[in-house]
Amino acid sequence: MPANLVVGAQWGDEGKAKVIDYLSKDTDIIVRYQGGANAGHTVVVGGKKYIFHLVPSGIIYDNTTCVIGNGVVLDPEYFLKECADLETHGFRVKDKVLISDSCHILLPYHRLIDEAREAGSSPERKIGTTKKGIGMCYADKMLRNGVRAGDLLDKENLKRKLNHILEVKNQELVKYYDLEPVNPNEMYDFLLDFADKMGKNIINTVYYLNSELEKGKRVLLEGAQGTGLDIDFGTYPYVTSSNPTTGGALAGSGVSFRYLKDVIGITKAYATRVGEGPFPSEILGEAGDVLRKLGGEYGSTTGRPRRCGWFDVQMIKHAVTVNGINSLVLTKIDVLSHYETIPVVVGYEYKGKKLDFFPSQGLEDVKPLFAEYKGWKDDISGINSFAKLPPLCQSYIKSLQELVNTKIGIVSTGPDRDHTIIMD
Ligand code: IMP
Repeated sequence: MPANLVVGAQWGDEGKAKVIDYLSKDTDIIVRYQGGANAGHTVVVGGKKYIFHLVPSGIIYDNTTCVIGNGVVLDPEYFLKECADLETHGFRVKDKVLISDSCHILLPYHRLIDEAREAGSSPERKIGTTKKGIGMCYADKMLRNGVRAGDLLDKENLKRKLNHILEVKNQELVKYYDLEPVNPNEMYDFLLDFADKMGKNIINTVYYLNSELEKGKRVLLEGAQGTGLDIDFGTYPYVTSSNPTTGGALAGSGVSFRYLKDVIGITKAYATRVGEGPFPSEILGEAGDVLRKLGGEYGSTTGRPRRCGWFDVQMIKHAVTVNGINSLVLTKIDVLSHYETIPVVVGYEYKGKKLDFFPSQGLEDVKPLFAEYKGWKDDISGINSFAKLPPLCQSYIKSLQELVNTKIGIVSTGPDRDHTIIMD
């Protein structure tokens, strides 16, 4: 059976979790493949809101097994807290989550360094991270100075490894960041506590996933963040430190590309981003505040107000290309009901010349070219059939589909599971 992939086409917060939740009912295994507790995936079920950071949001279906893939950076404190919160809401979590033995463990000092770096950066260098230590843990992974979940299964080896790692790390903490050194014994106890609680769940998920796929199980790969935040294909350096895009889904799960079937790209009917970095379609000033308020655009992990802008065709085409998206989901279209006219960025101009693609450099200097669409000015929240949408809303959706040259398979008109239009 195939693996399908849900990937963000913008700068994260596109509404991926609602789509994952929707698809989870026909899925056996859901895999988070990158990122960590920087993600904030919101699902609304029966009017109740749940926010997921590390645990795949598909956990709320009883039939699913959830996997934290090798590409994730796992923060034990956040993870255990999230499991406990979900269990108090009556969800089975610990007996349904598997953790890759190759995923890296995010340690408290990663968060401290992230905070120190952001605090010490000049305004031009500040990334506006979530301060969850994500980049620092991935840096240690690349420097080959990280702790992996599998290391927790062998106490002697863990002790030895930790001593080596902290020898290097403590020099960095003290000399470079003016922070307290880490006590190896305390860190060892901290990790052993996590191993006691979750050790049974740590397995070789690469073997597990591919053999389950071979047996016919249905797998959903759950992306966090989005294409615009991808370390390679996003607006570097204003990006996260992983690959949320399709290549990252395979590298971060070990699922063979042969199993990959649909790549479903999620985009809002407008655009948002949190943190610093270029944003050609951004709406500044009070007009931006209006859209923020209408869309409730505040970060679910940090509570920060999101920057708001219009739908950007060039960006979505970039996401379609990089990810091989064969179907798009358009979310939060109900938020646009307020507008008389709806601008859309249909192209860019750079140094007086039209640019046919989303550039890797100099995005801050492009001039967005707008087209305007007539708004429908009718409340469409909760509508679940395309035929029931006002004609102007139907033609807005069709126009976006033509502009990005990709099928829009699902349209979301509200936060709840039922507020969904299936286009096919
Ligand atoms: P980091 O991932 O915490 O290192 O932050 C790097 C950039 O990615 C910052 O601009 C964050 O605001 C952004 N970011 C990280 N995670 C998310 C997310 O889940 N949604 C939206 N933006 C995110």
